Amino acid sequence: AIDISGLRAETGHITLDHGYGNTGSCESAITFIDGDKGILHYRGIPIEEFAEGPSFIEVAYLLIFGHLPSDDEYNAFSKDMTRFANIDEVMKYHFEGFPRSAPPMAILSAMINALSCFHPELHELDDEAQFRQAAANLMSKIRTIAAYAFRQSRGLPYMYPDPALRYVPNFMHMMFSQPYEQYICADVIRKALNLILILHADHEQNCSTSTVRIVGSSGANLFASCASGVCALWGPLHGGANVEVLNMLEQIHEGNITPEEYLELAKDKDSKVRLMGFGHRVYKNFDPRAQMLQKIAEELLPQLNVNDPLLNIARKLEEIALSDPYFVDRKLYPNVDFYSGIILRALGIPTNMFTVIFAIGRLPGWIAHWWEQNQTGGNKISRPRQIYTGHTGQHYIPPEQRV
Ligand code: ACO
Repeated sequence: AIDISGLRAETGHITLDHGYGNTGSCESAITFIDGDKGILHYRGIPIEEFAEGPSFIEVAYLLIFGHLPSDDEYNAFSKDMTRFANIDEVMKYHFEGFPRSAPPMAILSAMINALSCFHPELHELDDEAQFRQAAANLMSKIRTIAAYAFRQSRGLPYMYPDPALRYVPNFMHMMFSQPYEQYICADVIRKALNLILILHADHEQNCSTSTVRIVGSSGANLFASCASGVCALWGPLHGGANVEVLNMLEQIHEGNITPEEYLELAKDKDSKVRLMGFGHRVYKNFDPRAQMLQKIAEELLPQLNVNDPLLNIARKLEEIALSDPYFVDRKLYPNVDFYSGIILRALGIPTNMFTVIFAIGRLPGWIAHWWEQNQTGGNKISRPRQIYTGHTGQHYIPPEQRV
């Protein structure tokens, strides 16, 4: 046994909180969650009030700048985004360097980081006007990068952004190269994608947002900080769960396992399997986003004439999980990822792009938190402590004397 008591005494008192379940890392005025009651507010507005009406850009503006935009503010921000939609032509060569099989999340984070090379003028953001330009640049370009990543993976030519199109239709145009008006149910698709982006737009100190804040706290620029957010989001316990939910539902659909057997496996700790799209660090009740997404899924699929057997499997899993003491006792409910994949699939978005869509949606939250920290954080670098559990009193042994 190693005696580290002496070292412990030297480090003084440290709070050990694995996974930061009970540690507040900052003060923030952006998003409020009451996990016990299943409440989510953006800048004080209940999430349910965004179900009808607002565009993703309006909500992004609200999160980033703290108030709903006036007509003039909205138009100026939209105009900037139209102006900034193209990426530098040279960046196309970067895409070509990736293998076709490259995960789009890898491309997305690399390319957002690369943007900092192309926009050094946006590294030092001294005032809000400059920040506004940087935010519009990033909000606009993430969509172009995401669509190019998809086209590259399919070996398809890149589609330039169309300045006549708004945010979501422009993304669809760059992804699928089909004139927006030729889509069947174009408006239904636009509305669903718009709402998905809104529902993902911020969620206080989640893993990726905390990452953006930690990286930003060292003084790293907005692009580098948000690129790190993409990496954090990628993991299957965070944004990558939307892909894992689809894989789980497909496995059940293919008859490899029944919903009941899957649940038993998820309850068995040795199996390392979890019911994907279920459970949340903060919500110990229904995640309001999951409820809204389930409603969209139920309405959208018939409108698009899509009969997806995975929806039935998801309903079945939810039903049995919510009456199983294992899930009830641990307060595990569907989270935002449980139904979003079924909707994205119905919209024709391939599975490997699901987490990329999540990243496009979450970007305003990352930008808002980066700026809030920049404005109110007092230049305090994020630097947690640790409890040392390693060896003490060791000495260097030259290679020839080691056994
Ligand atoms: N399936 C089975 N058991 C679960 C699940 C699940 N989905 N989620 C939690 N549990 C169990 C744990 O095994 C643990 O059981 P124990 O008390 O007997 O040890 C208990 O519930 C508490 O779980 P923790 O992992 O401690 O909870 P934590 O807050 O750390 O994790 C998380 C939250 C990561 C979301 C977890 O619920 C999970 O892995 N869910 C599946 C992945 C997923 O859907 N992630 C997306 C989250 S939403 C988002 O990031 C966008």
